Amino acid sequence: MKIISIVGARPQFIKIASLSKKLRKKHKEITIHTGQHYDTEMSQLFFDELKISKPNYNLEVGSGNHGQQTGKMLIEIEKILIKEKPNLVLVYGDTNSTLAGALAASKLHITIGHIEAGLRSFQKTMPEEINRVVTDHISDLFFCPTINAINLLKKEGITKKVYFTGDVMYDSVKQNIKISQNTSGILKRLKVKSKKYILATIHRTINTDNKQNLESIFDAFILSNKKIIIPLHPRTEKFIKRYKLYDKIISAKNIIMIKPLGYLDMLELEENAEKIITDSGGIQKEAYFLKTPCITLRNETEWIETVKDKWNILVGNDKTKILNAIESFETKTAQHNYFGDGNAAKEITNIIDNL
Ligand code: UD1
Ligand code: UDP
Repeated sequence: MKIISIVGARPQFIKIASLSKKLRKKHKEITIHTGQHYDTEMSQLFFDELKISKPNYNLEVGSGNHGQQTGKMLIEIEKILIKEKPNLVLVYGDTNSTLAGALAASKLHITIGHIEAGLRSFQKTMPEEINRVVTDHISDLFFCPTINAINLLKKEGITKKVYFTGDVMYDSVKQNIKISQNTSGILKRLKVKSKKYILATIHRTINTDNKQNLESIFDAFILSNKKIIIPLHPRTEKFIKRYKLYDKIISAKNIIMIKPLGYLDMLELEENAEKIITDSGGIQKEAYFLKTPCITLRNETEWIETVKDKWNILVGNDKTKILNAIESFETKTAQHNYFGDGNAAKEITNIIDNL
């Protein structure tokens, strides 16, 4: 089969890494990089580290408002799909690149497979929620990371060609954790000791694009007096500067703000952190896989299994709740294999092989 995979944002490079290698054993896979993320440390770094084949097309759409960014992608993806005539288009997760890829393919009647189908936050103010709901309703094959995702699709009337495959991000963790332990060296470089720091990431619009919310989170970090390492997402950096919070944060002795990291360094920091604080979807799951307690800066999560097992606590951007969780959230409860067994790429490939 001729398959086109469409990616563009950081988590999608991690999602494609293991799948692409498996697919290419039997099929011709072409990749389109929309260019949604373009800084070296948001894009190229992952292709190098995870040995992902160079994209066949890079649309270089860059940043912009949702309509502008998604529209540019749509125009360019359609041209490529008309030219390449693939049998199948694969889209990943819930970004604007996912939506544009699915929309372009659906209007051309090309079969669409959605990797990470069925996730919901039930918050329509989240751009990702719009992207994933629309993508699911125009897709043909649904590769679900959890049984909960299958049940959520059922509630929306989607029951055909829905598969439980496990989570491709679990594949990536399993395949790279040893490599990360042997090669990263990030703890030494940052002069921190295992379990003596907290790792934090922030990039959701609800937390970044609102001064009060962003300041509340950073105030909690500063007041906690804990050593907190923050690989800063470019969106967050932009808003910290716009809201004039930069000087206050940089002068706090317990905060270590650094550039976004590569995947191997990130795994090393996640595994050795005392706790993780994040609003990232992928990092909530990685915290669970690596058995690091996770404090989530949101009021709801798509990854409810991590909360159910008590490895994740939801605190929103409330300063007191964040501080309390930093101080006292601990867990050692049993985990379950909700996310499969780290063979999601193989499961997905088997399904595609038999189409
Ligand atoms: C996007 C996804 C989000 C995902 C996140 C992963 C959408 C709507 N959002 O959010 O679901 O969780 O990626 O990280 O698709 N920027 C740079 N350099 C880059 C990329 C971005 O400086 O390489 C800056 C720009 O100022 C840009 C801002 O970050 O405006 C936001 O980037 P964008 O891709 O629009 O959204 P993310 O917040 O990254
Ligand atoms: N990640 C990384 N370096 C960083 C921050 C995140 O390699 O500095 C990885 C992280 O380990 C996970 C993925 O990027 O695999 C999550 O991406 P992100 O948080 O940007 O997006 P989300 O998962 O929320 O969509």
